[in-house]
Amino acid sequence: MTLQIAPRQDLLDDPGAMRDLDPSGMMDLTVGFAAQCREAVRIAAAFAPGPVPQRPVNNVVVTALGGSAIGGDLLRCLAARETDVPLIVNRDYTLPAFVSKDTLVIAASYSGGTEETLAAYAQARQRGAQIVCVTSGGILADRADTDGAPVWRIPGGQPPRASTGYLFFSMLAALAWRGLLRRSVDADVEETLELLEDLRGEYGPSVATDANPAKALARELQGRVPVFYGAQEYLGVVAVRWKGQYNENAKSHAFANVLPEQNHNEILAWALARRQAPRWSVVYLRDPRERLETPRLAHRVDVTAKVIGRSVRSREVVARGESLLARMFSLVYLGDFASVYAAYLNGIDPTIIPGIDRLKSAMRRFKG
Ligand code: F6R
Repeated sequence: MTLQIAPRQDLLDDPGAMRDLDPSGMMDLTVGFAAQCREAVRIAAAFAPGPVPQRPVNNVVVTALGGSAIGGDLLRCLAARETDVPLIVNRDYTLPAFVSKDTLVIAASYSGGTEETLAAYAQARQRGAQIVCVTSGGILADRADTDGAPVWRIPGGQPPRASTGYLFFSMLAALAWRGLLRRSVDADVEETLELLEDLRGEYGPSVATDANPAKALARELQGRVPVFYGAQEYLGVVAVRWKGQYNENAKSHAFANVLPEQNHNEILAWALARRQAPRWSVVYLRDPRERLETPRLAHRVDVTAKVIGRSVRSREVVARGESLLARMFSLVYLGDFASVYAAYLNGIDPTIIPGIDRLKSAMRRFKG
């Protein structure tokens, strides 16, 4: 894998050059994300998992890793407003001790083969938890079929991180099936789908850099260490999604943190940041309503930007849409596009993940 140090200035306006760098079509999947979400909603609604169990659900654990887990994080943001029970995301081989027969465990693995998720699934069975799975197949689907656990089956054959629509909307359907949502979120879902269809037209590869916020952002961050900051509720989670997409698509280091927590430790690290790496860029993920709805938090972000200071290049991006779901996904989509453009600027195929592949096959060989 070779990195292009000084990319051509017009690379992002050259469709042929971008296609050459993207033989597996990550850009097609990214453009297709809006349609994927619409299809995901349809598939999830068409699945009939059977009669709703009588047992109560007192808490929900999504157990997943990487590109599958981020769908759980987004679900957690929604659940914080829309459910009466707590929902946590578990990224581990083991489940927390509170998981019991009154827990709904959503085991989500796009491939169905992630060993940590399979181990957590087995533990959920031992604890007698109520289990549902979201997967395209693999061992997880086989085990769930054998055990009689409902499986939201999603189309396979693409990278998990490019399948967030399938994963998220299936998990949302599982919450709705168990009657855990306080209200119907159908209108919010429709708003989100329509907004994504609009944004696809604004961020797509045929829109020139000077009119394309996603290309412009990727250009601005090129050759720098990006740091994504978002305030609590959903922006911090989207910051983590952006980091993951920069890591996996652009093969670039990136950092993410959430405010207010960042104000209580990481803010100090900027003192020596330029000794550690010469060029950093901060992106503040912001919400159009924060000044009205959470003015102290909005002010915190403003003050943070001042404290970090002018020596570090920074910019803001603002979510679009009305509902929480739409605002969340609007920023996810911008980050997804920017990360693929960043891969092109790095001269790198966004789809391949050699480090992860190597790690997973070494783990499969280890019989300990
Ligand atoms: C690859 C990706 C990874 C995987 C992770 C878990 O595109 O995003 O982060 O999601 O290795 O694999 P799955 O999702 O198949 O359980």
